[in-house]
Amino acid sequence: MSTEATEIRGIGHSVKRKEDGRLIRGKGTFIDDMQLPGMLYMSILRSPFAHATINGIDTSRAQAVTGVVAVVTGELMAQHNLAWMPTMSGDTQAVLATDKVRFQGQEVAAVIAEDPYVAKDAVELIDADYDALGVVVSPQQALASDAPVIRDEKEGQSDNHIYHWESGDAEATDRAFAQADRVVSLDTFYPRSHPAPLETCGCIADVNSATGQTTIYMTSQAPHAIRTVFALVTGLPEENIRIVSPDLGGGFGNKVPVYPGYVVATAASLLLGRPVKWIEDRSENLISTGFARDFHMHGELALKDDGTMLGLRTSLLADEGAFHADAQPSKLKVGLYHVVTGSYDMPAAHVAADGYYTNKAPGGVAYRCSFRVTEASYMIERLVQNAAYELGMDPADLRKKNFIRPEQFPYETPTGLVYDSGDYRGAMDLALETIGYDELRKEQEQRRADGKLWGVGIASFTEAVGAGPHKDYDILGLKMNDGAELRIHPTGKAILKISSITQGQGHETTFAQIVAEEIGIQPEDIKVQHGDTDNTPYGLGTYASRSTPTVGAATAMVSRRVIEKARKIAAHLLEVSEEDVEFTRPTFSVSGAPDKAVTIQDVAFAAYTNFPDGMESGLEASFYYDPPNLTFPFGTYAVAVEVDPDTGVWDVKRMVAVDDCGVRINPMIVEGQIHGGLTEGYAIAAMQQITFDEAGNCIGSTFIDYLLPTAVETPRFELGETMTPSPHHPIGAKGVGESATVGSPAAYVNAVIDALWPLGVRNIDMPLTSAKVWEAIEAAKAPA
Ligand code: CDP
Repeated sequence: MSTEATEIRGIGHSVKRKEDGRLIRGKGTFIDDMQLPGMLYMSILRSPFAHATINGIDTSRAQAVTGVVAVVTGELMAQHNLAWMPTMSGDTQAVLATDKVRFQGQEVAAVIAEDPYVAKDAVELIDADYDALGVVVSPQQALASDAPVIRDEKEGQSDNHIYHWESGDAEATDRAFAQADRVVSLDTFYPRSHPAPLETCGCIADVNSATGQTTIYMTSQAPHAIRTVFALVTGLPEENIRIVSPDLGGGFGNKVPVYPGYVVATAASLLLGRPVKWIEDRSENLISTGFARDFHMHGELALKDDGTMLGLRTSLLADEGAFHADAQPSKLKVGLYHVVTGSYDMPAAHVAADGYYTNKAPGGVAYRCSFRVTEASYMIERLVQNAAYELGMDPADLRKKNFIRPEQFPYETPTGLVYDSGDYRGAMDLALETIGYDELRKEQEQRRADGKLWGVGIASFTEAVGAGPHKDYDILGLKMNDGAELRIHPTGKAILKISSITQGQGHETTFAQIVAEEIGIQPEDIKVQHGDTDNTPYGLGTYASRSTPTVGAATAMVSRRVIEKARKIAAHLLEVSEEDVEFTRPTFSVSGAPDKAVTIQDVAFAAYTNFPDGMESGLEASFYYDPPNLTFPFGTYAVAVEVDPDTGVWDVKRMVAVDDCGVRINPMIVEGQIHGGLTEGYAIAAMQQITFDEAGNCIGSTFIDYLLPTAVETPRFELGETMTPSPHHPIGAKGVGESATVGSPAAYVNAVIDALWPLGVRNIDMPLTSAKVWEAIEAAKAPA
């Protein structure tokens, strides 16, 4: 029996990603790589109008094309009761339009053909006759009394209002404001953006008419939840539905919703008895699938003259598009926006939100964000900076004065969240020291004297990730809990099956590291299986940085369960009672006699060859984790910029990001996540938005208009770390995947506004294109 000590590459090791071996060799299996025998191809006809009645759809020319097998319309779908489907927020969404179209790019009909190009060409031959209607492209237009009613098919819906939602205590907040020396307010718009993953959405639906088995290979971040929703929508028995998410080329929230294309492809496969593949092109992805943000926000901060924060009031209008299909836990209409009090010890707060239908694509997804935390973080961090200037204080000092202090945790916010742990001052001090804040401020003064525009911006964000405790978090009633199953093979190798699905985050590596840490088998000896609903435990999916807080916890807990049984087997092998067995991974030894020992590998073999009488053979367990709370990662980002007064071009001179996500499982993967998030945050701050003209035409439907930063534009990032474990997470980890996208936009914008404040510029809404910055400078220069 070998008891040699080898270093286990568990938590804290920058293990190279196991999945990269196949991915960087081009050997990954993405949906569009897959071919099934007899497969057909589907292409979708989309509405050119943002709002129009449909007078009729003539499919005869398309149907006559050689190679076309079928043309599907809303009418045909309606015959099978599938013209409409439920959304994740409990609304309904047209699968294929029947009565009218409600946004440009809406699905109207589909062609199924033997060849993908034939399908696409035949779509052009479908003659749809429309009568254009008045168009609504903003919530402000939607609430006007004479606005056209977009969802006139809904019983009882006589306007475009979807919901009103409040959080916090309105009266306590009024009282706080009554005591204020000063109230600072900010109106800001977080524009509609798009996750734009490298791989667009798509599926292959394969319904076997002989067995009734329905297998859907799908770009999905939430395969289990989708299986259940499919069973409910189609009436197919759930045990016959198998959703497989193969390798995914990014998701960022875009691959959470159920899109009409999935439903039509499945219905077509059912009707035709052959597999049907549907793959979106880039423009289809940008104009019709889950957008993010689109929040018009108003914030007010009540302060004492010495900078003490007394209260926060915020109201917002959410542009939900034509169908309310956003991804939020059922109870929370604007997700976790109520984390808007941020990192501050705020005595009172009140949030009011109203959602409206508009003639825009549905699906407000959490683009690298935990359910609207990004918008909240942006609001408070912009507001705090402006407040500092109004008070004549340095923005860093105002933050330090009001941060929740480490000894105040667990800290209950005035909107009812309970932050688990934090050291906000620690993260900020490190960020300021790294960037050389005091020297930068002096340099700024000199440069200002020379007529240069220099700015320094800070954002000290707090996130809320890991939804969530079953009492408060569900989607369509499905509780947001997640599972893990661990099986140790006789030779001491293992397979871990998890409910989350990686889209590039490295789960095959990090979750193996958690098992390695807990039981002492090296990560390369642990296969991690995910993404196939027939072979993995149930869970609500991977988004909102929830994998580590939920599935990571389930993985630690299932490992501990396996060790419980392993200890019994070790006691049997060592011929002592269980209480006398000590476990220091990977070794079980006898208390007081450390030389008498067996390894986890010895125990695994014995679990199948030499187990005690009366014990079940094998070494495996499963665990479903119901988190007691969310986890609250945080950090401070500091940015230095120079703005060219003649062109409005701004250059990032320094970008320092200090993150605290508790215990880091794989520091290299964490840094990769932060780099990615900072890049996306920069893209949103500097260049990205999906806009619409007054006719509802989507501007931003290609990468010529919707810009992605390349390595040339992307700033250089300097990372720092503090570590405040989550007290309730089994390994002390908090999520990290989206922290940088959540926290960084405000830091970039604050830096530009810091440069322009002396000119009188108080706000510029993102994206801060050079044209907008230049206009703001010119407007500030113009006589009042
Ligand atoms: O849900 P998602 O995977 O997008 O986000 P996450 O839970 O924040 O994890 C992103 C990646 O970073 C995963 O591979 C995690 O296991 C890893 N991670 C880590 O190594 N340490 C942490 N404290 C948090 C995440």
